[in-house]
Amino acid sequence: MAEFILPKNSKIKSGKIFSKANGAARKKKFHIYRWEPDSGENPRVDVYEVNLDNFGPMILDAIIYIKNEIDSTLTFRRSCREGICGSCSMNIGGTNTLACTKSISSFDGDIAIYPLPHMPVVKDLVPDLSNFYKQYASIKPWIQTETPAPEDSERIQSKDDREKLDGLYECILCACCSTSCPSYWWNSKRYLGPAILLQAYRWIVDSRDKSTDKRLDKLEDSFSLYRCHTIMNCTNACPKGLNPAKAIAEIKKLLVSRIT
Ligand code: SF4
Ligand code: SF4
Ligand code: FES
Repeated sequence: MAEFILPKNSKIKSGKIFSKANGAARKKKFHIYRWEPDSGENPRVDVYEVNLDNFGPMILDAIIYIKNEIDSTLTFRRSCREGICGSCSMNIGGTNTLACTKSISSFDGDIAIYPLPHMPVVKDLVPDLSNFYKQYASIKPWIQTETPAPEDSERIQSKDDREKLDGLYECILCACCSTSCPSYWWNSKRYLGPAILLQAYRWIVDSRDKSTDKRLDKLEDSFSLYRCHTIMNCTNACPKGLNPAKAIAEIKKLLVSRIT
């Protein structure tokens, strides 16, 4: 039987404990993954006990409070605070989601917060998304046309064609889906993963784009698309309620329809 041994420096240790909830009627403990690459030390989990009446209702409110009031070294990404930018994606209570739209009250007991899984970590809750963005660039996420843009109008779409983009254009590239996909965990160098494939499909079905065949050609190998085994973790994880697994299935159908 295969035996896996983790390198010593990957083992997560217990960290510091901070309490700022003395006498609080409503308190909560957050267990947060910490890793400082320059320290040479192993990752650890710090515990912060806080008074819930000191900040807003979302997980991001708690993390911002902890950084501002308890431990300024805690590092994480955020920007819009309303589920638009995709920056604050992390693993909260065992599920990939957005810290700004996840309410603290949706969890009983302590809450564990880790970076998105199976990605290299830059520091604390910040994953290295370089490969993810490189893959995004590889699908050429912009409209490709054969005619110059009309001088006095936009490129017009019918209502039906425009509707084909619903459920696709809303993707905020948070990577919650890709980092919950087992196929992506093991093949992230060659398999594009659900987020990038949903984006690829967004351009494939855009009636204004004239590179449909080239886009499909690019996906037709044994890794880029076909590493999807319809496990559906991606769709379950999407905090925007999108369905990347369906987009992947639609691309597969289009590829099949080209040879039949
Ligand atoms: S359906 Fe495909 S992309 Fe989604 S989690 Fe499963 S293998 Fe990954
Ligand atoms: S499909 Fe959903 S989970 Fe995946 S990147 Fe887009 S918004 Fe995030
Ligand atoms: S801060 Fe922008 S999506 Fe959460």
